[in-house]
Amino acid sequence: MIRSCIIGTGSALPRTCVSNAELAERVDTSDEWIRERTGITQRYIAEPDETTGSLATAAARAALEDAGVAIADVDLIVLATATPDRTFPATATTVQHALGGKGFPAFDVAAVCSGFLYALGTADAMIRAGMAKRAIVIGAETFSRILDWEDRGTCVLFGDGAGAFVIERREVEEDGPGILATRLHAEGEHGELLYVDGGASTTGEIGKLRMKGREVFRHAVVNLAEVLREVLDEAGKGPADIDWIVPHQANARILDATARKLGLPMERMVVTVDQHANTSAASVPLAYDVAKKDGRIKPGDLVMLEAMGGGFTWGASLLRA
Ligand code: ACO
Repeated sequence: MIRSCIIGTGSALPRTCVSNAELAERVDTSDEWIRERTGITQRYIAEPDETTGSLATAAARAALEDAGVAIADVDLIVLATATPDRTFPATATTVQHALGGKGFPAFDVAAVCSGFLYALGTADAMIRAGMAKRAIVIGAETFSRILDWEDRGTCVLFGDGAGAFVIERREVEEDGPGILATRLHAEGEHGELLYVDGGASTTGEIGKLRMKGREVFRHAVVNLAEVLREVLDEAGKGPADIDWIVPHQANARILDATARKLGLPMERMVVTVDQHANTSAASVPLAYDVAKKDGRIKPGDLVMLEAMGGGFTWGASLLRA
């Protein structure tokens, strides 16, 4: 059967790391409050010369190198972001040019923190439809640029970064590698719970992130548990078959609650929120790359990716590494 296989991964972080204690010098908060409520200990914040596009390019380069693939052998780039370099052109085209690519399709996907799941699902569908053979799928963000640094309820939660997969069309056996099943969802009625209060066609300004944290938390736990079961059912697998969950890294307590709902031990969750905070669309590929490079995710492992974000949008994807 034809499947999209993950043949390389890469990630990139800004140069500057900001600890909770350093943040508490600028914002009315404390290391203790942030750790207890979120599990976050530090985050990386982009310097003025670092952008979503430059982080995305670095992550894509690392993924190409990991895969042993040249840009000349790539025929698709899908980039998930809610913080593009410019309103247009799409940041994916900037990355294509920076990598020395030309001619093939490159576009952005906007589904906020679920963006990487949407981008991966889109690239996988295009590959299986015969529209592409080898794609770079990227999640990249500079959320520090849309944070209200006066709002301690949100500014402590996020960080900047990028992660990338190289995926390739391959003929594989039933129990072979590749993406097995993906489910994506959206419910626009919850748009006011998590949004940015600006935009090109409304205020004409970029705006700042606004969030009703408690309600987002409640929806996230319910929606994620549901979509994980849907994907497992579609693939004919159960929770016990999963080797690793690579979740969107929003908050350690959401990860804990999701693991408990599925009856999975926390040891099977890849957790990087303590180091990176919430990097929105970048968090899933960043965490995957960390767990692959440190030897946790091995070839043949069954890995569940999942995310939920503004919209609301949410989704999950089950793959064999
Ligand atoms: N430092 C110190 N005190 C703070 C801070 C801070 N950074 N932020 C809020 N507080 C105070 C509040 O002012 C409030 O004080 P009060 O009781 O005197 O009024 C108190 O802490 C409790 O505030 P809540 O907002 O009710 O705190 P809560 O326990 O809900 O935790 C949090 C807030 C961490 C945001 C939580 O709601 C949460 O994790 N929500 C999930 C949202 C999330 O992760 N979103 C990410 C984007 S969406 C996604 O990726 C899934």
